[in-house]
Amino acid sequence: MNVGIDKISFFVPPYYVDMTDLALAREVDPNKFHIGIGQDQMAVNKKTQDIVTFAANAAKNILTEEDKKQIDMVIVGTESGIDESKASAVVLHRLLGIQPFARAFEIKEACYAGTAALQFAIAHIQTHPESKVLVVASDIAKYGLSSGGEPTQGAGAVAMLISADPRVLQLNNDTIALTQDIYDFWRPVGHDYPMVDGQLSNETYIQAFQTIWEEYQKRYKKTVADFQALAFHIPYTKMGKKALLAALENESETEQERILSKYESSIVYSRKIGNLYTGSLYLGLISLLENGQLKAGEQIGLFSYGSGTVAEFFSGTLVENYHEQLLTNLHQNQLTARKRLSISEYEEMFNDVLDVNADNNYEDTLLYSIASITNTIREYKED
Ligand code: CAA
Repeated sequence: MNVGIDKISFFVPPYYVDMTDLALAREVDPNKFHIGIGQDQMAVNKKTQDIVTFAANAAKNILTEEDKKQIDMVIVGTESGIDESKASAVVLHRLLGIQPFARAFEIKEACYAGTAALQFAIAHIQTHPESKVLVVASDIAKYGLSSGGEPTQGAGAVAMLISADPRVLQLNNDTIALTQDIYDFWRPVGHDYPMVDGQLSNETYIQAFQTIWEEYQKRYKKTVADFQALAFHIPYTKMGKKALLAALENESETEQERILSKYESSIVYSRKIGNLYTGSLYLGLISLLENGQLKAGEQIGLFSYGSGTVAEFFSGTLVENYHEQLLTNLHQNQLTARKRLSISEYEEMFNDVLDVNADNNYEDTLLYSIASITNTIREYKED
């Protein structure tokens, strides 16, 4: 049975910081951020905008009333959960008006959780071809002001509708995962920001990709030549490129150029948004589909990486007329409509943290934003 991504969209908060502004404020050469890290802008959110608001705003772009009747599972992958117990997917299910006889839950394993959610959804559709699953990867990547990870921050969500006979990307049954217990990036309970061993995380990411790519080629008898493009988890755009270059070492110059040019298409949006954690690979996929001039029938390889670590490589085949399902204009308009913050505005927004212990009402122009806190419960402004 053909199962895969039927619709896909992203949402990012309406503010950003320009990386030249940030570099100058931190007394760093701007080329380090633009070239060394590979980021031009970074998405920033207000305290009234959390992972539920990003998820609902992203999902709203793709769901019809008919979809809401057919969806019987809502899965949110996140590492920025808003509750230690209740899943954000339950709130999302209500906000979107999805029919009640559904499962709703959250999955965690750092940035890998979006892929775990996707694989769970695929397995469900294989046994229930008439149903649809809403998968959302939603996160706020925050490392702290003036921290080493600051230029690799970001925020937002990617929503995907998974179904039989998908109209965008049919997933091939050729997945391979790798688990290794490594502390490269983690966030102990109660910590606002992650603990990061930056250089170890870079090395582990590359090593995980090399290990999994070698095994994938052996198991599935595929090589670079089988793919029109390889899409990566993108904590910052230089990271995926480093892993890709390692895999392309023994390829001809023509082959390297072919794959590298598609990699550039996959990072157009990430360069302007930054890290979405669970959503980064799928933001890269949207960017590739909307900027990469790919053709139906071509195969895309996808590398998912979550610190800690779990990685997975799998692939998909583009469906006939897939481009008719894309929301390219909506995505591009969303990015151009954002407000550029000065560094002092960004720092003020960064430090203005939501206090869930104080009852309060809030104003925000964004659809699906936090309207109030009462007895620690977040109420959202709705459609
Ligand atoms: N012009 C051009 N390039 C410059 C430059 C300049 N003036 N100055 C420095 N650079 C280059 C450096 O040479 C380096 O390039 P290479 O990596 O190719 O050698 C690059 O800029 C970065 O420089 P540093 O390594 O000195 O940067 P740093 O010490 O400030 O840390 C970082 C970079 C480790 C990525 C840090 O931002 C960080 O910890 N980020 C968060 C962790 C992270 O994203 N890890 C990625 C893998 S983990 C993962 O994927 C999960 C996840 O989402 C978090």
